[in-house]
Amino acid sequence: MPPFPERVFSGVQPTGNLHLGNYLGAIKKFVALQQTHECLYCVVDMHAITVPLPPADLKHNIREVTAAFIAAGIDPQKHIVFNQSQVAEHAELAWVFNCVARMGWLNRMTQFKDKAGKNSENVSVGLFAYPALMAADILVYRATHVPVGEDQKQHLELSRDIAQKFNNDFAASIAANGHGDAFFPLPEPLIQGPATRVMSLRDGSKKMSKSDASDYSRLNLSDDADAIAQKIRKAKTDPEPLPSEVAGLAGRPEADNLVGIYAALKGETKERVLAQFGGQNFSGFKAALVDVAVATLDPIGTEMKRLMRDPGHLEGVLNQGAARARAIAAPVMSAVKDILGFVR
Ligand code: TYM
Repeated sequence: MPPFPERVFSGVQPTGNLHLGNYLGAIKKFVALQQTHECLYCVVDMHAITVPLPPADLKHNIREVTAAFIAAGIDPQKHIVFNQSQVAEHAELAWVFNCVARMGWLNRMTQFKDKAGKNSENVSVGLFAYPALMAADILVYRATHVPVGEDQKQHLELSRDIAQKFNNDFAASIAANGHGDAFFPLPEPLIQGPATRVMSLRDGSKKMSKSDASDYSRLNLSDDADAIAQKIRKAKTDPEPLPSEVAGLAGRPEADNLVGIYAALKGETKERVLAQFGGQNFSGFKAALVDVAVATLDPIGTEMKRLMRDPGHLEGVLNQGAARARAIAAPVMSAVKDILGFVR
């Protein structure tokens, strides 16, 4: 496999209610990676239409994710911020990958099973094929590193399988077209730290999610300081004091979650947090958590609201980003067509 230049790609769906899990699991890492890598950050609006979504909400949510990226510290001048539907190569490569991926691979995707539930005959074909579009998002830029939360791990493994199968199936043509022994890199997931899977504040066995009916289950990036404080005060806990060591969090999902959130917000490990708070009850710890959560999230929420008042500016960012993204994606897609034997 040739050494592929390192490039970061990741995406966030514009499906509303961006929350702390999205921030700690993904967006905070997007911000950090800007220092070391060339990055593309995408508002994946084509993924958002795999389930019903009113057009006015979609438009609002696309702007809101863009605003969240910028408010959190992503620099759209230095890096590329854009929405997926403006770069047609994503859909083009996704079709090719629909023909590379196997039904059995997609049938194993747990997120599809969760989302489809008992209703699998009635959900869209797009929801089933969703991971092939994800692979196309990444590989149309030949990206090598993908920062995501734990819930996307299986989809990333599928992206690697698709890249590998394409490289194998078309090995002779890849070589004949001058691309050596592999056309696509095998993208690596970046899933590290204390908050790769932030759980609901109401139920430590459920993931914090945009679609949870209870707003008290999540800290939204748009919440103000009062809402953040109230939600943390009401967050579910257990009657025991905090343990002094990480092993003591086993079987205590709510405590584990709050300690992980605090650690991630502070940029510390759970060990260090417990060295400080071990033996204390939750009321003191929650007060400290409110302080750090408000200090991090309130400025992001305030800046998001300011940016949302100027949709023209946000759309300008997306349009410029899309033009830069297309300049990378178009030659990759042309090369894929040559490899496949399409006449162009
Ligand atoms: P989405 O929009 O559901 O979530 C965006 C990012 O937030 C992470 N995340 C979490 N991390 C920790 N704890 C949580 N409770 C939590 N909830 C969400 C997700 O892991 C994700 O990193 N399929 C993707 C979007 C996508 C994509 C891509 C990602 C489309 N194409 C290509 C990477 C590369 C999704 O639905 O994310």
